Amino acid sequence: MNQTMEYYDKTAAQWARQGYGPDAALICLQDFLKLLPEGARVLDLCCGAGYETGRIAASGYRALGMDFSRESLKIARQQNPSLPFYEADMLGDYSHIGMVDAIVVIAGLVHVETSKLPLAFQQMNKVLKENGKLLFSVRDGTGKMKDRSLCAVDGMQYDRNFIAHTLEELREAAKGFFSYQCELASDMNVWKNYVFAKKRQISAN
Ligand SMILES: C[S@@+](CC[C@H](N)C(=O)[O-])C[C@H]1O[C@@H](n2cnc3c(N)ncnc32)[C@H](O)[C@@H]1O
Repeated sequence: MNQTMEYYDKTAAQWARQGYGPDAALICLQDFLKLLPEGARVLDLCCGAGYETGRIAASGYRALGMDFSRESLKIARQQNPSLPFYEADMLGDYSHIGMVDAIVVIAGLVHVETSKLPLAFQQMNKVLKENGKLLFSVRDGTGKMKDRSLCAVDGMQYDRNFIAHTLEELREAAKGFFSYQCELASDMNVWKNYVFAKKRQISAN
């Protein structure tokens, strides 16, 4: 098990208490959902304990969640028994979940090395429909943030590998798949919310 997964398994309940709190809803998520067609199927990628997945569904969209932390998914399923949640790595192939109209990745790319962003985007591209939209909520900056990476839980040290990304890094890694559309307002200015859209795929025939 890698340290990021182990850290989120160990802290799932703590994140859930915070995320299901009454003041935890993100303005950018509601702003993003307004850009989607009615009844859109929306993947909450790196959903953690499923609080945003639940809010997406409560806003009238067909929500599904995916994460690699089994303990977070247990809470997500308990809290949202009617929603589908999948256990998978965002850097692997998860196309078995079917096609979606939109993907939200809230504080998920903070665990993807800059060199691996193209792979993460390639996997998202496989499940995103033509004209599909993406919301990336990222920690602004570049490279690994040591102070946010090293965390102690129950006397054990974890390196959860917390990585900041600039818009330019995202645009560069996304260029074969998605194009940048706009920035949405953020509740905290160290976090940036970027909307991308799937590029029209040119068929080989
Ligand atoms: C900072 S939490 C964000 C959770 C939630 N999206 C939120 O807004 O609070 C990061 C989540 O990403 C998940 N995660 C990190 N790397 C992942 C990967 N490679 N594949 C799937 N999930 C991953 C972790 O398990 C954790 O639940």
